[in-house]
Order: sequence, then C-alpha cells, then structure tokens
Amino acid sequence: MHTNQVYSELVTVHNGSHKWWHRRWFKIIGIFVIILIVFGVVLALVLNFVVFAPKKLETSTIATTSSSSSPLTTTIPIPSSLTTTISTTPTVTSTTTVPRTVTTTPLVVSTTILPQTATMTPPLTSTTTLPPTTVTTTTQQPEWSVTGNMNTARVYHTASVLPNGKVLVTGGNHGSTDFFNITELYDPTTRTWTITGSMINGRYDHTASVLSNGKVLVTGGDSWGGYLNKAELYDPSTSAWTTTGNMTNGRAGHAASVLSNGNVLVTGGWNGGYLNSAELYDPSTSAWTTTGNMTKGRAGHATSVLSNGKVLATGGQDNSGNIFNNAELYDPSTDTWTITSNMSDERYRHTASVLSNGKVLVIGGMRLDSNVYSTVYSAELYDPSTSTWTTTGNMTKGRAGHAASVLSNGLLLATGGYDNDYLNIAELYDPSTGTWTTTGNMTNARDYHTASILSNGNVLVTGGMGIGNIALDSAELYELFETN
Ligand SMILES: *[C@@H]1O[C@H](CO)[C@@H](O)[C@H](O)[C@H]1NC(C)=O
Ligand SMILES: *[C@@H]1O[C@H](CO)[C@@H](O)[C@H](O)[C@H]1NC(C)=O
Ligand SMILES: *[C@@H]1O[C@H](CO)[C@@H](O)[C@H](O)[C@H]1NC(C)=O
Ligand SMILES: *[C@@H]1O[C@H](CO)[C@@H](O)[C@H](O)[C@H]1NC(C)=O
Ligand SMILES: *[C@@H]1O[C@H](CO)[C@@H](O)[C@H](O)[C@H]1NC(C)=O
Ligand SMILES: *[C@@H]1O[C@H](CO)[C@@H](O)[C@H](O)[C@H]1NC(C)=O
Repeated sequence: MHTNQVYSELVTVHNGSHKWWHRRWFKIIGIFVIILIVFGVVLALVLNFVVFAPKKLETSTIATTSSSSSPLTTTIPIPSSLTTTISTTPTVTSTTTVPRTVTTTPLVVSTTILPQTATMTPPLTSTTTLPPTTVTTTTQQPEWSVTGNMNTARVYHTASVLPNGKVLVTGGNHGSTDFFNITELYDPTTRTWTITGSMINGRYDHTASVLSNGKVLVTGGDSWGGYLNKAELYDPSTSAWTTTGNMTNGRAGHAASVLSNGNVLVTGGWNGGYLNSAELYDPSTSAWTTTGNMTKGRAGHATSVLSNGKVLATGGQDNSGNIFNNAELYDPSTDTWTITSNMSDERYRHTASVLSNGKVLVIGGMRLDSNVYSTVYSAELYDPSTSTWTTTGNMTKGRAGHAASVLSNGLLLATGGYDNDYLNIAELYDPSTGTWTTTGNMTNARDYHTASILSNGNVLVTGGMGIGNIALDSAELYELFETN
C-alpha cells in the first residue's frame, strides 16, 4: 500500500509536473507556429511581389538595334535585366564594339558589348542561344556611299592599297577590244582620284602585288591576244613605273601571292593553253625563277597564302574546258606542289579568302555541267591543320566574278558578281555562325570589279562591268565604322 501510495503520489507528482511542462511547451510551440505562419505570409508576399514579379517579365521581347534602314533587324528575347543594361548603353557603343570582336569567339562579343552583365549568369547563358543573325544585327548598319569616280571606266583591272593608305588602280579595259596603261590613285582622305604615272605596258586580267619595300609589282595580263610575260614596278615615292625582269611565260588570268619571305609566286593562267607552271619573283634581284609545276594547268583559279607559309591553289579551268574542284598546296621550302583534298564544288572565277581563324573561305564561282555554265551558291572552308574541306552556309545569291573582303571585324564581305545579270547585292559571312546575311546593296551592279580594305576599315569598290555590258568608272565605299 505504502509503496503503492508513494508510487501513486510519485505518479501524481510526476503526472503533475509532466502536464505543467506539457502546457509550457504547448504555448511555446504555439507562439513558434504563429511566428512561422507570419513569417511564411511575409515570405510569400516578398516572393510574389519582389522575386517572381520581374521574372515574369523575362519572357517579354524587345527589338534590338532596329536602326532605320536595317534589313537585318531581328527580334530577340532578352531578359529584363538585360533590357535595362541595353537601354542605358547607347546603341552606338555596342555597334562599334561588336564588329571588332565578332571574329572567332561569339561569347566574348556579348561580354564586351554588355560588360555590366558579366556577373549575371542567366543573360550570358541566353547569349549562347541567340539566333545566328544576332552578331550582324547588332552592328551599326554600314552604308554604301558613292565616292569620287575614277578618271577611266575599267574592268579586269587591279587595285592595291599602298603603305601610305592610297589605292593604286592599274590597267584594265573598257569592255571592248582595248586595253590601257592608265593608272590612278585614290586618296581616302579627300575621296578623290588623280592620274599617276602610266604603266609601260597596257594590260588587263593581270596581277598587282604590294611588295615589302612598298613598290607594286604588276605581272602579265592580256593585250587582246598578246599574253604578256612583262612585269613592271610602281614606286609610290616617284609615281613612276620601271620595267623589271620578264616572266618565263606570258600569262593572263593567273594568280600572284606574296610569300612570307617577300618573294612573289605567280601561278597558272593562260597563254593559248592553260598553264601548270609557276614562277617566283625575287624583289632583291628583280629576277624570276621557275619553280615546281602545279599538278594541273589552271586559269581563273584562286590562291591563298596560309599562316603556315604554304600556298593553296583552288579550282579553275583547264585545257579541256573543264571547271574542276581540285586543290593543291605549294610548299616554299621544297618548291613543290602536292594535291590536297578536293573541294566539294567545281569553281572558276571564285574567290578564296584567309579568315582570321586561319581557315580559307572559298565562295561562289562558275561551274559547267553538260556544257551549261551556272553560278555557284555554295561556300566551303579549308582547314590547313587537317587539310580538309567542310561546307558552310550557302550564300543568298550565286555569284561569279565577284569580290570578297575580310573586314577588320572578322566578317567577310562578298560584293557583286554575275548571276544571269550583274549583281548589286552584297552579303556578309560570319565565321562564328557559318551563315550569310545580306547587307546594303551597292549603288551599281558590277562584276570583275575590285574591293580593297582601306586603313580605316572601309571597303573601296571600283569599276567592273555593269548593266548593259558597260564598264564602270564609279567607285563606292562600304563604310564599316564611323570615321571621325
Ligand atoms: C600609254 O598608252 C598610251 C596609248 O596607248 C600611249 O600613247 C602612251 O605612250 C603610253 N604610256 C607609256 C608611259 O607608255
Ligand atoms: C622581255 O620580253 C620582251 C618580249 O615580251 C622582250 O622584248 C624584252 O627584251 C624582254 N626583256 C628582257 C629584259 O629580257
Ligand atoms: C613543267 O611543265 C611544263 C609543261 O607545261 C614542262 O615543259 C616542264 O618541263 C615542266 N617542268 C618541270 C620541272 O617538270
Ligand atoms: C578529286 O576529284 C577528281 C575528280 O574530279 C578525282 O579524280 C580525284 O581522285 C579527287 N582527288 C582527291 C584527292 O580526292
Ligand atoms: C547549298 O545549295 C546547294 C544547291 O546549290 C544545296 O545542294 C545544298 O544543300 C545547300 N547547302 C546548304 C548548307 O544549305
Ligand atoms: C537589292 O537589290 C535587289 C536587286 O538586285 C533587290 O531585289 C533588293 O530588294 C534590294 N535590296 C534592298 C535592301 O534595297
């Protein structure tokens, strides 16, 4: 009993104390729960109005850089956080920075345009998925503008940018049975042309190369049936021409490349037949030496000096009239040619340009199927490190007898050419996306014109054959950057 009593008292006490603590805990837990609820409500309100509200705006779209006459305008979804950055950044700022850095690394571009966003991960992620046209879209719309006319209309002429920034235009013909020696200089600062010393020999479909000593070497060319072996040098300091050593072969429709050692490699061309021969000019001796023959005779081909010093010759036409896809490499250290991979398309009067990433972009040209000529839309890239070709985006327009210029922003500008008629259409290739977008039309449609990159980044287009088979004296500028 006693023990039971004690036990029950203990139980009672114990029960009493248990109940007391229980009630205390209940209050504490209750208060805690209320605090939790209040906190939850506040958190919900904060999430609703502060955190989630802007995120809903992320799906809103804005049109970036809808600069007046731009055919490249696109609408791009951009997070609202970016929107504010863009609106506070003058459009001009982004437009001037983009072209310079586009070249190889699109991601770097976006960080340079919008440095403020560098710390924000979502905007950077979204830039990787931006449509291909974005890069060109954000560029300031470059303008074609007419500049001073040349003194002479000409086609199949040459244009060379001199070390002093002026452009030397030589020879050509008027589109009829003539050819001439008239030479003139374009001054980018005054945008005018002045006649300079005449070549000793009139010629068209020749080559002109700027030597490391600043002189210009002109080789070969046509004089209506007379295929010249003659070469001459222009000295900008005296504005005069002097004869230099003769080539072994007379040739027109050939190609000339300045090698890294300063020598000039002249390849192929025609002289009644299509030449496989190549020869080297040494400026220090003014003499020519024959070097290894190409594996194939060719004219209307294109050559490119690779960063490894080798020269890539592509396509052209041969003695049997075939237009082909063959490509071969010249190695200056051995003076020999070796075949490299074929292009996927046959091409004649195409262009080949070394991009800033070291690859060679070959575009357009003419092909021949069952005795029918057609222009080529396609473009392909040669990778010197693998010696292989890969196709890249087609141009929007087939073209042959066009010109191609690698701009200082890394894009490639293709101008004019011929596709059933003379073309005024210009388009830009973006190596980072492998795509083409049209840019402003030239004032004049033209083929067999020249395009030269001036020291301010603008492109000077001169002459060529225009609508109605009339040779042009007009020149126009593709203005890439503000020049002020
Ligand atoms: C250039 O050609 C013209 C006409 O054919 C000729 O009269 C003139 O002498 C030539 N100039 C030179 C420097 O040979
Ligand atoms: C160059 O070739 C021409 C013929 O095309 C010839 O009349 C002239 O004498 C040659 N010049 C030299 C330096 O051999
Ligand atoms: C180069 O080819 C020509 C024919 O086009 C030939 O006469 C000459 O011997 C060849 N030269 C070499 C070094 O094979
Ligand atoms: C290139 O193509 C021609 C046919 O056009 C073929 O005879 C030749 O074997 C090809 N060369 C290579 C290296 O694939
Ligand atoms: C380019 O155009 C040719 C037809 O000329 C077509 O066969 C080819 O598929 C096109 N390539 C691309 C990448 O669109
Ligand atoms: C450019 O010229 C072509 C005709 O060659 C024409 O179809 C096109 O509309 C022109 N584009 C612009 C933007 O004027």
